[in-house]
Amino acid sequence: MALREIRLLGDDVLREPAAPVESFDEDLRALAEDMWETMYHADGIGLAAPQIGISKRLIVVHPRRSDERAEQEEYEPLALVNPRVVESSGQTDKEIEGCLSIPGMEEYVERPLDVRVEAQDLDGSPLELKAEGLLGRALQHEIDHLDGVLFIDHLSPLKRRLLMKRWRKALAER
Ligand code: NI
Repeated sequence: MALREIRLLGDDVLREPAAPVESFDEDLRALAEDMWETMYHADGIGLAAPQIGISKRLIVVHPRRSDERAEQEEYEPLALVNPRVVESSGQTDKEIEGCLSIPGMEEYVERPLDVRVEAQDLDGSPLELKAEGLLGRALQHEIDHLDGVLFIDHLSPLKRRLLMKRWRKALAER
C-alpha cells in the first residue's frame, strides 16, 4: 500500500469524465487499497480515483464515528466500481460538505436524501445499495467526481464566487 498525492482544485484531472473500469485485476485491488489508505490518512470519508490523478470510475467511501456527522451510524468501508445513481428521492436535505481536493472549504449542499446506486465490486460482481443520510450524501459526492463535478458546482453562482475568492486568497497565503 502507498499513500497517493491528492490532487487539488485547479488540476485538470478533477474536471475530466473518468473512464469505465474494465479489468478487475490485482492492479484494481491495489489501487483501492491505496485510496483507502490515502482517505484515512487525510481523515476523509470518501475518495474518488480522479482525486489521486487516476481517471477511472472507482470510489471508496467510509463514513465513520470519528466524523461527528456519522453520529450513531457505523458503516463498512466500501469500494464501488463503475457506480451510478439509478434512483433518487424527490426529498432533499442540506448538509455541510467538504472535499479533500478543496481543503479548508466547507459549505451546505442540497442533495436528494435517498439514492439507489448500482455498481460492481472489486471482483466485477454487480451490487446494488440503497443509501440515505451521510452515506447517501458521500456516495453522491464521490460519484460526482467521476463526472468531473465538484460540490461547489451545486452552489449558487454567488456563493461559489465568494468561496473561490477565499480559496484563491488562502492559496496565495500558503
Ligand atoms: Ni470530494
